[in-house]
Amino acid sequence: MSDDSDRDELVIAAKRAQENAYAPYSKFRVGAALRFADGTIVTGANVENASYGLSLCAEAMAVAKAMNEGHRGGLEAVAVIGSGKQPIAPCGRCRQILFELADLGGTDPLIWCASKEEAEGVLLSELFPRAFGPGSLD
Ligand code: THU
Repeated sequence: MSDDSDRDELVIAAKRAQENAYAPYSKFRVGAALRFADGTIVTGANVENASYGLSLCAEAMAVAKAMNEGHRGGLEAVAVIGSGKQPIAPCGRCRQILFELADLGGTDPLIWCASKEEAEGVLLSELFPRAFGPGSLD
């Protein structure tokens, strides 16, 4: 698969997931899609709560879904899309959560930071250098 079609497929999956965002408070809808080495794509969207601080990000939802489906590592690429004009990158907490899953398989996934108009690829290691992870506990 070419880089372009990989990006397009993942961004489309993230956009579809975004339709299920529950964001009545911020009105900022986020979709995320994870692609694994076996070709599986797992998606998530943000889920807010009337107790605002309990809101769950799209990437965290996607990682939780994937791990509950048995994925442990193999994370090769991610797309995240927000409802604003600018492409968005995962928040700090989501970088940590994505790193845990990626590190289990020793990959450094390419993160497609997307908006409706564009997508910019950046490695997780660039977004989140010197991460604390499973190996740090040894
Ligand atoms: N949000 C995400 O889903 N992912 C991020 O990486 C950044 C923020 C959500 C949380 C909240 O529901 C809304 O976007 C506004 O912050």
